[in-house]
Amino acid sequence: MKTTISVIKADIGAVGGHLKPSEKLKQRVADFVAENGLKKRLLIDYFVSSTGDDVSILMTHTKGTLASEIHKLAWEAFMAGTQVAKEQGLYGAGQDLLKDAFSGNIKGMGPAVAEIEVDERPSESFLFFAADKTDPGAYNLPLYLSFIDPMHCPGLMLSPTMKQGFKFVIMDVNYTEGDRIIELNAPEDLYDIASLLRDNQRFVIEAIYSRTTGDLAAVVSTTRLHNIAGKYTGKDDPVALVRVQSQFPATGEVLSPYAIGHFVAGTMRGSHVGPLMPVKANTMPTYFDGPPIVCGLAFSMHNGKLTEPADVFETPFWDHVRDKVAAKAIDLRRQGFSGPAMLNISELEYGGITERLNRLDSKFVVREEKREVVKAAEKILRK
Ligand code: F6R
Ligand code: MG
Ligand code: MG
Repeated sequence: MKTTISVIKADIGAVGGHLKPSEKLKQRVADFVAENGLKKRLLIDYFVSSTGDDVSILMTHTKGTLASEIHKLAWEAFMAGTQVAKEQGLYGAGQDLLKDAFSGNIKGMGPAVAEIEVDERPSESFLFFAADKTDPGAYNLPLYLSFIDPMHCPGLMLSPTMKQGFKFVIMDVNYTEGDRIIELNAPEDLYDIASLLRDNQRFVIEAIYSRTTGDLAAVVSTTRLHNIAGKYTGKDDPVALVRVQSQFPATGEVLSPYAIGHFVAGTMRGSHVGPLMPVKANTMPTYFDGPPIVCGLAFSMHNGKLTEPADVFETPFWDHVRDKVAAKAIDLRRQGFSGPAMLNISELEYGGITERLNRLDSKFVVREEKREVVKAAEKILRK
């Protein structure tokens, strides 16, 4: 049976700043989806969850990807949630809903979207990741390691169903006139893939396919909110779906890279660098609006019906990782705005600094005596 898994995520308002949606808001979104999706048989199943200040609606159905009625359902559920956010005075009510009215497809309207249509395997297992206070490039390194590197994915050496490797679809997310993508194959294009994925702010993994079966293995939301809005509206907190086991990496092979706590863009004012901390569901980013967090929920699915989620980062092992990541976060924070602790000027999510630098630029002077020395030196060199 062909089933589509759609996850659509938005920040529509949070308690006490950018921390977490209220229970009432989440309940309103879930009730809306139950009433208008499940009851009307548009959906087979759904699961509403939150990561930091973002609400995700995970849905299963048979309408395929980019289905207007599914996207409209999510949009309207977020609108209903935004109403609650306004009534409760939540911060950033409706923040990610950047357009006034729904028009066919939620992509480009603010919310993040990741969708996979699957030919259901007898035991279909997948992971749903949601990250907060970061951007889609945060998944570049973990996905690269899980799907390319036998140090994390020994299945690439051991499993006959993975021996041909995977195809990567990588998007240039700075390009705004359409979807600019490139397809590269691992392992033979490994150095090309690495050369692109090094730049997490520009090149983002959009999808990964098995080269053995042709099946879609993983998808990542690639929204860039400031490309849509033309100004800062918040970081593009990304969601991802990754199918696991059999012809795909095992659950543990997909999770292994998250023990690194690699540095990503985001955290305070979407303008800094911080280590990605794997967290339990419903964790808030309360240190310097960070550190960037990622939560992972594993599901099994049969005929589109979902099990309850398994919260993959809740075990004692990840407490140890979190301690180490917290230490990394504090270490980098100690150097404040200096050098690699803060993002490049083009990635800063607030315009204030550009105005400041422009003002300062006009106040710069060139020392006359030095100018004379340079001129004299040039004259001699020319002779
Ligand atoms: C990061 C984020 C926060 C805010 C910060 C200031 O994605 O959302 O770090 O940037 O809390 O928020 P404003 O400018 O809305 O007061
Ligand atoms: Mg926010
Ligand atoms: Mg967020």
